[in-house]
Amino acid sequence: MFEKTTVNLKILRERAYNLRWATVPEGVIPLTAADPDFPSAPQIAEAILNFTKERYLCYGPPDGLPYFKESVAKFFEEKRQLSCSPSLLFPVDSAAFGIYLICKAFLNKGDEAIIFDPVDFLFRYSVETLEATAVPFQIPAGSNVVDFEKLESLISKKTRMICLCNPLNPTGKVFTKAELMQLGEIAVKHNLIILSDEIWSDIIFAPHVYTSIASLGGDIAQHTVTVTGFSKSYGLAGLRIGAVLASNPEHYKKLIDASLHNSTIHGANVIGQIAAATALNHCQQWLGDFVAHLQQMKDLCVTELNSIQGVQCTAPEGCYVAFANITGTGKTSTQVHELLLNQAKVAVVPGLKQWFGEGAEGYIRLSFATSEEILKEALHRIKKTLNSK
Ligand SMILES: Cc1ncc(COP(=O)(O)O)c(C=O)c1O
Repeated sequence: MFEKTTVNLKILRERAYNLRWATVPEGVIPLTAADPDFPSAPQIAEAILNFTKERYLCYGPPDGLPYFKESVAKFFEEKRQLSCSPSLLFPVDSAAFGIYLICKAFLNKGDEAIIFDPVDFLFRYSVETLEATAVPFQIPAGSNVVDFEKLESLISKKTRMICLCNPLNPTGKVFTKAELMQLGEIAVKHNLIILSDEIWSDIIFAPHVYTSIASLGGDIAQHTVTVTGFSKSYGLAGLRIGAVLASNPEHYKKLIDASLHNSTIHGANVIGQIAAATALNHCQQWLGDFVAHLQQMKDLCVTELNSIQGVQCTAPEGCYVAFANITGTGKTSTQVHELLLNQAKVAVVPGLKQWFGEGAEGYIRLSFATSEEILKEALHRIKKTLNSK
């Protein structure tokens, strides 16, 4: 299922955008945006065909198809141990929009939101688009100690929210239950909303285990708004589908009002909802095989990166990206990015503020959601280029 032969480069070159195959020059391997090189599970195509064969593609309910809502609620109850009613969640047209929507519902102009550093650009982008201020909080890679006293010291009278990205893209850190408890207690003490982005929560490498912060229950759950998506685990990025989950009717109302779904100005398309519900209900074997493949690619990627002069990479605990420190090469992340693109013919994401915040300088990020053959070829080229500099 996850071999070289399943990667259809002809189709990817026509369809894979966002810095990937369709956007890079011929011959370049794009280990850029975290989007798998593999086709999605066959059950998803089958469900879409079944749904569309009568050719009725009517308006759906503004708060989502019942099948979608029930499937997501069941997933969170059974797989994430949190109490979740279908009436407190609704689909959104991507996790990216879900992040923005939560910020829109709970932040006003001039407010402050704490975001991790480094972290995916979507958090800063959403906060700043709403004319609020993003306050960065450094999170070390791997199991290094998170300074929660520092987190508390960043809270001011204007702080309204802590943006939790767990697992953390780009470092791949998976927060422990104890860490989440500390973060949750600080949020409760200061009456802050916890925006919990869980889009990566299926991609966890043993022995690490995933905890949803809302599963800690009580006040912590009541302060949490969760967002998830289906792009990473199931390769459905082009369908633009995700979900937001409130912990109480008051938060739900704020979210659905801010979404503009009731006016039909926005909404999540029904095909995406069918695909996502099918993924949760019928593609768990596929997901398990995908994660097993990723575990092997992670080991390969980290070992190879650490064998390159001037490069150091802490193994990610989750996510299918490797975040490698390149300061030992004596070059900036932009210089390494350009060198790899022009000489190795491999595209990576440079650790720039615009992608991951200030804490990312000196790093590059590589996605390893591809076949072993493609990954080996890319790493071989990277190694040859950097070792000869
Ligand atoms: C942490 C995080 N949240 C959200 C997203 C966006 O996902 P979607 O494709 O559902 O918008 C990404 C995509 O890279 C991500 O890494």
